[in-house]
Amino acid sequence: MVVYKHLLSALLLATNAAAGRGGIQKRQNDAPTTTWNGATYSCKCYNSDDCWPEQSAWDELNTAVDGNLVANAPAGAPCYQNHGANVEATYNQQECQEAVQGYGVAEWVDDQPATLMWPFYSNTTCEPAQNAQGTCTLGFLPEYVVMAKTAEHVQAGVQFAAEHNLRLVIRNTGHDFMGRSTGYGSLAINTHALNSIEFTSSYDGPGDWTGGAVTLGSGVQHSQLYPAANQLDPPVVVVGGECPTVGIAGGFIQGGGHGPLAGYHGLGSDQALEFKVVTADGDLTTANAEENPDLFWALKGGGPSTFGVLTSVTIKTHPEMTCTGMSVNITGYDETFWTGVADFHNMANHFTEAGMYVWFALMNGNLNIQPVVGPNMTEQEFTQVVQPFLDKLDQDGVQYQHEIREFSNFYDLWYNMFSKTNNVGDQQSLVGGRLFVAEDIEQHGDEIVDAIREVIGAGSGGFGGFGGGGAAASAAVMGGHVVNPGHAIPQEDYSATHPAWRRAATANLYIVSAEPGMSWEERKEIEDMVTNTLGQKLRDASPNSASYINEGDVNEPNWQETYWGDNYPRLLEIKQTWDPNGVFYAKSTPGTEDWEVIEYGTRLCKKQ
Ligand SMILES: Cc1cc2nc3c(=O)[nH]c(=O)nc-3n(C[C@H](O)[C@H](O)[C@H](O)COP(=O)(O)OP(=O)(O)OC[C@H]3O[C@@H](n4cnc5c(N)ncnc54)[C@H](O)[C@@H]3O)c2cc1C
Ligand SMILES: *[C@@H]1O[C@H](CO)[C@@H](O)[C@H](O)[C@H]1NC(C)=O
Ligand SMILES: *[C@@H]1O[C@H](CO)[C@@H](O)[C@H](O)[C@H]1NC(C)=O
Ligand SMILES: *[C@@H]1O[C@H](CO)[C@@H](O)[C@H](O)[C@H]1NC(C)=O
Repeated sequence: MVVYKHLLSALLLATNAAAGRGGIQKRQNDAPTTTWNGATYSCKCYNSDDCWPEQSAWDELNTAVDGNLVANAPAGAPCYQNHGANVEATYNQQECQEAVQGYGVAEWVDDQPATLMWPFYSNTTCEPAQNAQGTCTLGFLPEYVVMAKTAEHVQAGVQFAAEHNLRLVIRNTGHDFMGRSTGYGSLAINTHALNSIEFTSSYDGPGDWTGGAVTLGSGVQHSQLYPAANQLDPPVVVVGGECPTVGIAGGFIQGGGHGPLAGYHGLGSDQALEFKVVTADGDLTTANAEENPDLFWALKGGGPSTFGVLTSVTIKTHPEMTCTGMSVNITGYDETFWTGVADFHNMANHFTEAGMYVWFALMNGNLNIQPVVGPNMTEQEFTQVVQPFLDKLDQDGVQYQHEIREFSNFYDLWYNMFSKTNNVGDQQSLVGGRLFVAEDIEQHGDEIVDAIREVIGAGSGGFGGFGGGGAAASAAVMGGHVVNPGHAIPQEDYSATHPAWRRAATANLYIVSAEPGMSWEERKEIEDMVTNTLGQKLRDASPNSASYINEGDVNEPNWQETYWGDNYPRLLEIKQTWDPNGVFYAKSTPGTEDWEVIEYGTRLCKKQ
């Protein structure tokens, strides 16, 4: 019965529409229409429209969410004497100082209702600064935020947005590189407080997994889950990411999710056993191998904010194990530096064949490879694998320092070698990325490194303190990962992620600095450079490769193919089944072809 529930609700909605009452029909009539660049659009409701909810309706929503609805104010609001019509005046020097200090701290940013780690996408119209000048406005940040404490609060938020035809945004930690946790004039649902963690030693739900599992509220972050898994008796490990403050069961798992153990146990999304998700009709739905298997598959990497709001996820746990890590630094401003970069990048397939994982940060003159992770490897086993790489560097006369450390468990490796990396807010930049597959490294390895070199240029971008956000809009830093989840789980449709993940070698992102307060034309210029100049160099050098939906370019051309490959048609069908009216929207995700943010980054509308 439950399996066919969505068919049934589609039928009911169709019946309602035919009878001319309630549901979709009414919402479509309410949608304001407009023309823009010669096309006709039907739009979501915004606060200047007649269809925007009355104050009494917002009050009702606030009651339904037990008083957890907040009128949003940007982080910098207490710093401004002048506040725009949609931001309550809150000038307060003490609070301003806290905001100025907190803005660069990931944990502080996460705790705010809607502040972004990558502020470009807020339109930076109210940045925290002592003695700030000008007027604080919301820019592209949400108008209201449901600070959800329960799944019922999430349901109330989704129902309200659907009923009133509002733009709905889901915001967990605000880490999104691509601006997908914000939206002009929207109602946001903040899932940060859904942080329950419950372990079981033997999973007995649907599917063939009988090992350990853990059920996570969708707000749980790595800094909570990794220690909890380690403190269990016996300790376990999970496939998460590197960064302590990324959320596991929000954007990470719905985008695919790679991390230190992905070469050994598969992608983050491959770990999912069951989702609880609030779907577009406001129902709290279960998706697993037996109940709604289509939705289950799609939620495993089919796109963030696309099929529903996750409220919890059950994922596999695995036994703890000895892990070894290595740090390597290559420095220098001559050609040998780039020889070293090529020696490293061309070695990716060798590392992934051993199930290893690597994070590296590259700018001109400095390659910081830290760490190389060897899951379930002693120092001796690890050294055998990495020795050919070190030998090659020696042979080529490359200057480097390196250090190898064995840890008795994964948690200690993560804590010592990852947990302090890149965990910062106020990243005034935008990103693009490319996922290189094994075949391209084999056939075009040197061309790829040449393309990377061109993308990095003079290298004065910013990421976690690497060079720290210079003004030059033409320079980038690259962060990357050596990872192949296909080493652990080779089946191409195991999850909805791009099949190229099963042949992955490195997943890289490049970071380009942006200035706060750029005009629309300047924004378009820098986006164009990210997509068409820098991105094109990487595409040209890797004809068989793809991109990673969480670490890519939001304006990627042919995004359907580049982010999902052959899995796209099935995802589109599932999106049309579960969210036919577009309650959920994030740019460049399945089913958003007709949707567009028009009028200089503001109204979300559907082409007629
Ligand atoms: C410092 C840093 C380190 C990173 N490290 C890694 C890494 O090691 N591995 C990796 O794979 N990725 C990594 N990422 C990328 C990361 O996976 C994505 O940014 C991811 O989208 C973040 O998810 P979030 O829920 O924490 O963030 P948010 O910005 O809050 O949300 C991201 C997206 O997911 C949607 N979303 C959030 N919660 C839900 C929900 N409950 N239901 C439905 N949709 C939801 C949002 O609407 C948005 O589209 C990193 C990013 C940063 C900034
Ligand atoms: C976005 O920022 C630009 C530049 O400051 C400004 O002209 C524009 O009005 C802003 N738009 C919104 C909706 O804040
Ligand atoms: C680690 O590897 C050994 C074989 O070398 C294997 O027996 C063991 O199961 C592995 N441990 C884990 C947790 O995968
Ligand atoms: C490499 O550089 C980083 C950053 O400066 C440093 O933390 C690390 O210890 C260095 N590693 C080695 C092996 O020197």
